[in-house]
Amino acid sequence: MLKPIKLANNNFLSSLDLSTNEVLHILELATNFKNKEININLSNKVLGLIFDKSSTRTRVSFQVAMTRLGGTTIDLNPTTSQIKRGEPIKDTARVLSRYCDVIAIRTFDHSDLEEYAKWSSKPVINALTDLEHPCQALADFLTIHEEFIDFKNVVLTFIGDGNNVANSLILCGALLGVEVRIACPKGYEPNSVVIKKAYEIYKNKNLLKITNDPTTAVLGANVLYTDVWSSMGEENQKEQKDKVFNGFTIDNNLVSKADKKAIILHCLPAYRSKEITDEVFESKRSRIFEQAENRLHAQQALLSCLLQ
Ligand code: CP
Ligand code: NVA
Repeated sequence: MLKPIKLANNNFLSSLDLSTNEVLHILELATNFKNKEININLSNKVLGLIFDKSSTRTRVSFQVAMTRLGGTTIDLNPTTSQIKRGEPIKDTARVLSRYCDVIAIRTFDHSDLEEYAKWSSKPVINALTDLEHPCQALADFLTIHEEFIDFKNVVLTFIGDGNNVANSLILCGALLGVEVRIACPKGYEPNSVVIKKAYEIYKNKNLLKITNDPTTAVLGANVLYTDVWSSMGEENQKEQKDKVFNGFTIDNNLVSKADKKAIILHCLPAYRSKEITDEVFESKRSRIFEQAENRLHAQQALLSCLLQ
């Protein structure tokens, strides 16, 4: 039976906290969890969840993952704890480290997450920040692996805003040697440090392409991926972003330019007729709900490794 390995890093704040081998191990472990071929007992282990932003999938999949592993979760709602009243992160982190065995945090500034990790003596997991969504990327590449097995010949095209989801896809994609193309409007390119790190990992093999033209980006692609145009915290930019992102909708026309067997992914929640048409969302090429399910299996694998 495959056994969870101890990861080199104590935290999972970024896709880059894992090595290529560690990502591959987590994906294999996740498949074992999915196929019920593995039984890990984390009884008495407690996962604390601090969510400064809304969540359906991440919150519930972490809760169910922990339950299936025999552990429990505590939902530390910032509005009913002292967090929203301004208790310093460094105090909260040191206190929670004495109660919980691992903490998953969803917040705005990535630097706040890093501050938690700095003061926590227990593993901290990024459950989404403005910069990255690395748990999502694990489930995404698990879904891609299920479809194509080998990552080597996969071309993944992300169409949309170059923020958290795109940044983690780029980094995890680089670790796995996947060709990643990002098509976004001018001014919405992925984080420049993320791009630089990906190029370093790819060793300048030209496998990361950033463009403002969705049509060329989808040519021959195996995976078409999109995310909301206005992320959480950007509600007041909605009108302006709807205009800027006009032309970046995954519709049948774009799908027809991709590989014939291309699959469609979306991290969800989705806004039909904005980033994706209902037709494409509901089409037989969509693997969107398999992808959502895979959050659960990937996080069971991640938790088992972090709690080694
Ligand atoms: N994809 C994702 O993270 O969904 P939630 O915001 O519902 O957690
Ligand atoms: N980019 C989106 C992802 C949601 C899972 C957001 O940050 O709201």
